Amino acid sequence: MHKELLKFKQVASTQDVLRRLIKNRKEIAVFAYRQTKGRGRYKREWFSPAGGLYLSILVFPERHINSIPLISCLSVIETLKRLNFNKVSIHWPNDVFLNNKKICGILSERIDSAIICGIGLNVNIKNFPSKLSNATSLYIETGRIYSLEKILNLCLKNFWNFYDSLQNDTFNIADAYQYISGVGEPVVVKLSSKEIIKGIIHNVDEDWSLIVRTDNGMIKKIYYGDVIRVL
Ligand code: BTN
Repeated sequence: MHKELLKFKQVASTQDVLRRLIKNRKEIAVFAYRQTKGRGRYKREWFSPAGGLYLSILVFPERHINSIPLISCLSVIETLKRLNFNKVSIHWPNDVFLNNKKICGILSERIDSAIICGIGLNVNIKNFPSKLSNATSLYIETGRIYSLEKILNLCLKNFWNFYDSLQNDTFNIADAYQYISGVGEPVVVKLSSKEIIKGIIHNVDEDWSLIVRTDNGMIKKIYYGDVIRVL
């Protein structure tokens, strides 16, 4: 840990605050209590009222760049486990689910040698817009209000620990396998507006690609995409 953390009451997006700080070449985190223009993957809006945790972390990794989103996701998983939540899982590639609903999304943006990893964790949010019917928060799951500061500190401590182990080659990706959900289940992956793959999740590979056995019996490795699980 011991890396700098900037805290704001409100920003447009914590991702953008860090974009402006890349030139300082310093690894640093930014937290905000609210965002007015929070964004998610595929240019979606990220619902960011007071009560959520909005955290972005700027790193300049020398190796294992592709695993940065995964360690962000694991940092949240470890935090939730520390708070005694057990039904936590990773919805490939790096959404965190609690009790089969989305509790956290991760957005990773690469700008040359910099990575800005954004974590949106629904902590004390009481209601979601109806279009986010699969979202949940710690409050909705338990009826309790949680300390954002405590959760922020746990997430950061976990992140920097995982980041150190990743950079000194002691991180074991196998630690993440136990949390992957949906292996053996039907899946639809949207690669683009025109390309969709349907099949069964076979596994997740060591490079964190999703291995799908397609409906016509082919094995496909998928490196990105929007997973729409078929239940
Ligand atoms: C997703 O599931 O689509 C990813 C959501 C990522 C949201 C976080 S909140 C903190 C950071 N700032 C943003 O504007 N987005 C990320």
